[in-house]
Amino acid sequence: MDVLSAIKKRSSCRDFKRTQIKNEDLDSLVNATLASPTAINLQDLKINVIQDINLIHDISQECFRLMDAKAKKRMQERNADNIFYNAPTIFVLSSPKTIYSDLNAGIVAQSLCLASESLGLASCIIGMAAPAFAENNPNNLKNRLDMEEDERFCIAIAIGYANSKKLPHELNRNQIREFY
Ligand SMILES: Cc1cc2nc3c(=O)[nH]c(=O)nc-3n(C[C@H](O)[C@H](O)[C@H](O)COP(=O)(O)O)c2cc1C
Repeated sequence: MDVLSAIKKRSSCRDFKRTQIKNEDLDSLVNATLASPTAINLQDLKINVIQDINLIHDISQECFRLMDAKAKKRMQERNADNIFYNAPTIFVLSSPKTIYSDLNAGIVAQSLCLASESLGLASCIIGMAAPAFAENNPNNLKNRLDMEEDERFCIAIAIGYANSKKLPHELNRNQIREFY
């Protein structure tokens, strides 16, 4: 699949099959993360690849424990009792906090989503995982990912086979300012 088709076809999946992805696909995804650029080529992102269902469950549960009523309601409406929508493979991106760390992670996140699309896999970027790794959460799970003291959660990405998928979002031309 060419890149433009993958960009066009990608949409967030919130209903994954529990079937694990193939090892060769996981290798391709890991390579896609490592091929992504980082500012000044520091390569200071940590790419935590998680297929341990107990660890995925514990991260999700910690987020549900701290979730406000509005977010809980949204999850109920999505019929979701897991913040990763039962995806079998999760990438958690973390980094020492720098002015570029979130941007670096955002680039890797989109690389993962597009690489997934091209492999016939579905993905969803999961910002909601943040409370499970927050500094001000005394029960945070940083140690479960061997995260260093100065390492901060940036973003998570859930990947697997889609049970069902929504359509890509509508494009909004109002976002564009043109100067020709
Ligand atoms: C930074 C970021 C964080 C997100 N966090 C979540 C999340 O925690 N849970 C979720 O279901 N979707 C999350 N999403 C997915 C967005 O809701 C989704 O991209 C948006 O609704 C547009 O839909 P589309 O991805 O299908 O085009 C996140 C997306 C981004 C870019």
